[in-house]
Amino acid sequence: MSDSPLSVYPVKPQIQATAHVRSMAEYERLYRLSLDNPEWFWGEQAKTLSWFHPWTQVFDADYDAVDFAWYSGGRLNACYNCVDRHLPTRGDQTAIIWAADEPGVYKHITYRELKHDVCRIANVLIAHGVRKGDRVCIYMPMIPETVATMLACARIGAVHSVVFGGFSAESLRDRIIDAGCKVVVTANVGMRGGREIPLKTITDRAVDGLSLVESVLVARRTDKEVPMRQGRDHWLDDEMRKQRSTCTVEWMGSEDPLFILYTSGSTGKPKGVLHTTAGYMVYAAFTHKTVFDYRDGDVYCCAADVGWITGHSYIVYGPLANGATTVLFESVPTYPNAGRYWQVVDDLGINIFYTAPTALRAIAQAGDEPVRKSSRASLRILGSVGEPINPEIWRWYHDVVGEGRCAVVDTWWQTETGGILISPLPGVTPAKPGSATLPFFGVKPLVVDPESGKIIEGNGVSGALCLSTPWPGQARTVWGDHERFKLTYFSQYKPYYFTGDGCRRDEDGYYWITGRIDDVLNVSGHRLGTAEVESALVAHEAVAEAAVVGFPHDIKGTGIYAYVLIGAEYQDRDPAQLEGALKEQVRHAIGAFATPDVIHIAPGLPKTRSGKIMRRILRKIASSEYTGLGDTTTLAEPEVVDKLVAQHRLRFPSKE
Ligand code: PRX
Repeated sequence: MSDSPLSVYPVKPQIQATAHVRSMAEYERLYRLSLDNPEWFWGEQAKTLSWFHPWTQVFDADYDAVDFAWYSGGRLNACYNCVDRHLPTRGDQTAIIWAADEPGVYKHITYRELKHDVCRIANVLIAHGVRKGDRVCIYMPMIPETVATMLACARIGAVHSVVFGGFSAESLRDRIIDAGCKVVVTANVGMRGGREIPLKTITDRAVDGLSLVESVLVARRTDKEVPMRQGRDHWLDDEMRKQRSTCTVEWMGSEDPLFILYTSGSTGKPKGVLHTTAGYMVYAAFTHKTVFDYRDGDVYCCAADVGWITGHSYIVYGPLANGATTVLFESVPTYPNAGRYWQVVDDLGINIFYTAPTALRAIAQAGDEPVRKSSRASLRILGSVGEPINPEIWRWYHDVVGEGRCAVVDTWWQTETGGILISPLPGVTPAKPGSATLPFFGVKPLVVDPESGKIIEGNGVSGALCLSTPWPGQARTVWGDHERFKLTYFSQYKPYYFTGDGCRRDEDGYYWITGRIDDVLNVSGHRLGTAEVESALVAHEAVAEAAVVGFPHDIKGTGIYAYVLIGAEYQDRDPAQLEGALKEQVRHAIGAFATPDVIHIAPGLPKTRSGKIMRRILRKIASSEYTGLGDTTTLAEPEVVDKLVAQHRLRFPSKE
C-alpha cells in the first residue's frame, strides 16, 4: 500500500474477517466476477430470499428511457421474507428489541409476535380500504408499531411513505398530497430525549381539509389523550384488537413498488424516491449480511431513525430479511448523558453498532469518560453513515469506543441507492480513517471531470462521483415524475448515474467522499436542499430574497447559513427579533432540524451582471474564508462583498 497522507489501519489479527468474505484476495476475485458477470452474481444473491415464483430474467434495461428491471417474472413478498419465512426456525427468537426513550426500558418482540402484530395491522389497513398499490403515510416515532406498519403495508402490497417525525405539518402535508396517501398512521405523541413531540397535533394540521385522507390511525405511545375526529381518527390498538392475527400475503411482482421515501435535491420540492420489491430486498439483505458481517445470534443496532433510508434498509428490511435481532433505538445519543449508546450496548449485548458521525461528534465532546464507564465487550463492528467522518472521530470510534478490537466500516450510500455502495468489509479491507475505502460488489464508481464531463481514469484523481453499472437496489423513479428522475440523476453525465457528491480516488484506489457538489446540504446527516430553506424564508413577508449556503460546523458537519434581504418596510425592525421570526418560519415550513444556524441580514447579494448569485463567494464568507474570493470586479455591485465580509467579521471575530 503506497504512502497516504493519513495512516493506514491494517487489519489487526484480533479482528475476525467477515464470515462472508474472508480475505482481500476473495474480495477482489468476487468483485471482478460481480462486474464481469453481474447477471450470474445477482442471480446467486437473490437465491437467499424466498420466492413465490422465481424470476425469469435477472436484469433488463432500457437505458434511453432510464428504465431498469431486476428479477423480472418473479413474485415474492417483502414482509414474508422478513417475517413468515423465519417462523419455522426462529419463531421464538427476538426480532426487535425496542430501546425506549426512557433509559433502561426495553421490550423484546419475537418473530412470532411480530407476525401477529403485522397481520393485525395489515387487517386494520384492509378494513380501512387500503388495497394493493395504495399509498399509506407513516408519521411515527421509533416504536415497534412503526416497523410493524411498514411490514403490514408490504404484506398487502400497499406502498408506504414514511415521513421523519421531525418534519413540520406543512412538509407532512406536501408529502401526503404528492404520494396520494389515503391513510395516515401516526401516534398520539413521540418521545425523544425526555421531550414529547405532538405528532397527532401536527398530523391534524397536515391533513386539515384534505379529503384524500380517509383514515388517521393513532398508535398510543403514552397515555396522553389527544383530540380524535369522529369518523376519521381511530386508535390503532383498538382497531388491532378487532382483527385476526393472520393475514394472507399478497404476492408482488419483482418490480412492484415497495415504498416511497422523500429526499431533498438541489431544486424544487423534495422528490418521492421509489424503490421496488425484489431488487431492493436482495440488495438490502446482501449488504447487511456482508458489510456488517451479520452472524446468527448477533444483536445488531442501527441507531438511525426509520424516517430515513438508513432506517428502512438497515433497521427494518435488511436485518429482518436475514433473521436478525434488530434494535430499535427511540432516544437520542445524549439522553440522559453522552454515555447512553454504550449503556444500551451493554444492556443488550450489542455486537454490531451503526450510527452517524454527527452523533459521534456530539458525544465525543463529552470526552472518553462516559465511554469508559461501559464495558462494550460485546461490540465487534462499528459502522458510520450519512456524512464524511472526520479522521479524528474515526480514530476515536476505533480506539476509544472499539478499543482497537472492532472493525470500523464507513459506509457511503444514498436514499436513491437503496443500500451501501462503498465500504470496507470488516476484518478484510485495510482502513484509512475518513475514507469509505472500496466499492461493494457490482458497483463501479467513476470519477468524472465536472467541467468537461470526461471520465478521469487512474488513481490520485478528484471529481464528480458517478456510477457506471446498475445494481439491484437502485431507485427506479421519482414518484409521479419519471422525467425528473432522468433529469436529476442521468442527464449531467449521461449515461451514468450522478450521485451529487464529489470524491477523490487516492493512489490506492480508495474513495474519499468530499461532500455534495450540488446545492444540497448535509446537516447532522440530514439531507436538505438550499432551495427548500430559501423558499421557506421568502415565504415570510419581510424577506425579499434569500440565499442559503453551508459552512463547517463542529457538531452538525455542515451548518445552515442564510443571507436574507429585507423589504424596505421591515428595515427598522429589531434584527434579533427578525432573526428569531425567520428561524421560526423555517421550523414551521420544514421542521426544527432545518433551522438556520445563522441569519445574516444582508445589504445585498453578490450577483453577476446577468443576475446569478455567486454562491461560491457566499460560502467562503460564511466559512470565514475572506481571501481567494476571486475577481469580484465583474459583479453587478462589487462593494456588496466587502460589506458582507465586514458584517461577518464583526459578528464572528473569533473565527479568523
Ligand atoms: O453526501 C453523501 C452523504 O449523504 C448523502 C446521501 O444522503 P441520504 O440520501 O440522506 O442518505 C444518507 C444515508 C445513506 C450522500 O450523497 N453520505 C452518506 N454516507 C456517507 C456520506 N458522505 C460521506 N461518507 C459517507 N459514509
